[in-house]
Amino acid sequence: MINSKTYLKVNGGKALQGEVEISGSKNSILALIPPMCLGEGEGTLTHISGISDIDAMKGILDEIGIQMTYEQDSVKIKGTMVYSELSKLYVSQIRASNLFLGVLLARFGKAIVPLSGGDKIGNRPIDIHLYVFNKFGIRTEIIDGYVKCEATQFPYKGQKIFLRFPSVGATENAMLVASAADSETIIYNAAMEPEIVDMAVLLNSMGVRISGAGTPVIRIKPSKRKLQRTVHEVMPDRLEVGTYLFMIAATKGYGVLKNVIPEHVISVITILTDSGADITVDDNSIRINAKNCTLKPVNIEALPFPGFPTDLQPFATVYALACEGKSSIKDAVFPVRFNHLFEMRRMGMVYESVYSQVIIDGIQRLTGTTMTGTDIRMCTALVMAALIAEGESKIYGLEHILRGYDNLFPKLIGLGADIEIIEEENVEMVLQVECIS
Ligand code: UD1
Repeated sequence: MINSKTYLKVNGGKALQGEVEISGSKNSILALIPPMCLGEGEGTLTHISGISDIDAMKGILDEIGIQMTYEQDSVKIKGTMVYSELSKLYVSQIRASNLFLGVLLARFGKAIVPLSGGDKIGNRPIDIHLYVFNKFGIRTEIIDGYVKCEATQFPYKGQKIFLRFPSVGATENAMLVASAADSETIIYNAAMEPEIVDMAVLLNSMGVRISGAGTPVIRIKPSKRKLQRTVHEVMPDRLEVGTYLFMIAATKGYGVLKNVIPEHVISVITILTDSGADITVDDNSIRINAKNCTLKPVNIEALPFPGFPTDLQPFATVYALACEGKSSIKDAVFPVRFNHLFEMRRMGMVYESVYSQVIIDGIQRLTGTTMTGTDIRMCTALVMAALIAEGESKIYGLEHILRGYDNLFPKLIGLGADIEIIEEENVEMVLQVECIS
């Protein structure tokens, strides 16, 4: 049982080598469970990964009368949705819980959902979601931490909607709401992330007719019949793929990643290849060899898909430490997603930063220390930093890793990492109390 007193002991300096089987996408799973609530009969999502965010989803489903049961690497979903105002208990744990606004609106024309939680990576507004709802004639207000929505006419009419930014969550909510409209909806400047395509494939198999998912213009024709739950295989986790690619390359290792859709990680493959790693792509696997490589610096900007993903920016900044020369990494999608750097200063890391951009002059040799992660990617990036550092590190905050990575620690051990989970009693938590000049 991992808790705040559990830490990961990492002996750094070893090259990662071996094979990794990639799990089902965390962000996809969280976007596929909500639409399943809109159907009838029994549905199954296969290739589910063992991440704790799914437990929070299950808690929300319980509140609206939907049953979800785990079976090996799948979940079964059945039951009829009942109207309920969601409590903060589970909604506050994950960002994707805001998709229940779309689900409740599509079924009942009204919704009361607390503001969603998730990673603490800065201000995460929902103005685009509310804009979408307003377009359908749905009144919205935020009162005392709750988002309250009610349709002035239900079912509402299909709409033409232009998103000011291709938000993933707002595009998903728009597809959910549009699937219950009385006519076609067109979303312009839609997010193009693969998770959007995965959700559209599921909704189509349930009876909705969606075209254009994966492009900036998505057309949604609602079904005339009740939606039926189906069996759907969750796509591989492209962010897990990117994480291992950066880790293997930065440790000058060698590895094969299996169950991959290479097109989903073209930005990462290109960046690492240009930087000097040897990468070979097959239909559903990627081979990377960075042994004896002199890695060149990188120039990266996090952007909406097919650009470089913001979720992988922390790994890119750690990777830059292993590159010879000045790297530049910019993340204007989540400009404050640089918390890992503050912690890594404890290891001796130096960098320059201006607003959403950091400059890292490598190669930098880090020394192991004690650090605490406060979100999924940050905490995992600290593990990566510890893997390339000299000596022993202790990483706290492992519960964040469990939220989003399936079996990270066994997979790293399989790659030869010298790591161990330690339960410690009466630890004086370091957190960010220490002052670093
Ligand atoms: C999803 C992913 C997250 C990823 C992000 C961007 C899930 C559960 N999470 O989050 O891992 O990092 O996409 O790829 O799938 N924005 C607004 N107003 C809004 C909505 C968003 O200004 O109403 C801004 C955000 O502050 C951010 C940008 O748009 O700057 C991207 O956010 P968005 O695409 O909505 O991310 P999420 O769906 O929350």
